[in-house]
Amino acid sequence: MNNAFALKGNILYTPVCGRIEAAADSYLVCEEGKVAGVFDTLPEAFWGVPVEDFGSRLILPGLADLHVHASQYAYRGLGMDLELLDWLEQNAFPEEARFADLDYARAAWDIFVEELAKSATTRACIFATVHRPAALLLMEKLEQAGLAGFVGKVNMDRDCPDCLRETTGGSLEETRRWLEQSAGFGRVKPILTPRFVPSCTDELLAGLGALGARFNVPVQSHLSENLSEIRLVGRLCPSSRYYGDVYDRAGLFGGPRPAVMAHCIWSGEEERARMKEAGVFIAHCPQSNMNVSSGIAPVRLYLREGQRLGLGSDVAGGAHLSIFRAMTDAIQASKLRWRLVDDSLPALTLPEALYMATKGGGAFFGRVGSFEPGYEFDAVVLDDADLPTTRRCTLTERLERVVWLGDGRPCAKYVAGRKLF
Ligand code: GUN
Ligand code: FE
Repeated sequence: MNNAFALKGNILYTPVCGRIEAAADSYLVCEEGKVAGVFDTLPEAFWGVPVEDFGSRLILPGLADLHVHASQYAYRGLGMDLELLDWLEQNAFPEEARFADLDYARAAWDIFVEELAKSATTRACIFATVHRPAALLLMEKLEQAGLAGFVGKVNMDRDCPDCLRETTGGSLEETRRWLEQSAGFGRVKPILTPRFVPSCTDELLAGLGALGARFNVPVQSHLSENLSEIRLVGRLCPSSRYYGDVYDRAGLFGGPRPAVMAHCIWSGEEERARMKEAGVFIAHCPQSNMNVSSGIAPVRLYLREGQRLGLGSDVAGGAHLSIFRAMTDAIQASKLRWRLVDDSLPALTLPEALYMATKGGGAFFGRVGSFEPGYEFDAVVLDDADLPTTRRCTLTERLERVVWLGDGRPCAKYVAGRKLF
């Protein structure tokens, strides 16, 4: 059997939102970078393939981070006393301006990529900065590290400091060059990244929509995150029916090319209906939503509506890169929302949060985030030996403790069938 191998251990995954499938002491088989299946005994077809025995450790699908700013990693945990628009002006923009210097970018990307590689995240949607060379360098470093996902050169042609503001034509030209230069990448691909409506003119968005169609690339941005931001969008785009309508008019809101929008805390009925129709993904980033005082997204409502949904760390609005942490933040935020805002929307459960962290968010990258046959072989192995207890726990309970109590770091990690460590 060519390129086949198996991992042995306790295998957990969520084929359906809300249900954890647990296979004790079983085999997870990889063939040509894809999952061949989960088996309690190794099928004859795979006799003789290499088997790595992880004993009683837990094997999970790799996690997906649907929204993270690599360029903000350096100031994680700093400047958390401000609301979004002031936070951007005082923290994000001055830091991102430093990436005009490729040496600074190199040092910052090295830290980010090393930390991401050590985490349980196998796929991510990543914002770089407006600087094309820095964005390309980040893509190279992620690819060298064996990680997969999307990186965006950010676009901004208004409402930001002069040192970051591009001209409309310059922004489009740099984006075109960057898309051409990205063509040779493998598992790390480009994604159009208009920062958000306040920093992009209609003309820039329309130009990006045209580039998206020409190069067939997906889109990432921010949507309906914060009330002050939404009021600003209303003033800047008086003819738009709702915030997402501004992206939609430019061809940047799902449909033929996937789009992922971070936050969507305040999306109204019309916006949500359009997102559902166009298959726009929501990146729920609970920690950031609390830190920059944006609010609590109605995630239960999104699940009920059948929206496409995953989790994001949103570093550095969120201070933690761990998507396990995003799971527990999402659960806790949903409890507060239920208690304080709307008791018709029950809190999230751990199996639901795990689904969002794996198969839900993974869908943005293709068949990713599950151990069903044909899924890309993204797997992480977790050791809970350093979480001692007198209790006898089921596999699901052990997973629960790893999510709530662990440091989030796997002891082995595979991306698309390739072992990183
Ligand atoms: N909206 C526009 N830019 C940003 C950013 O960098 N972080 C967050 N959380 N929201 C944004
Ligand atoms: Fe963000």
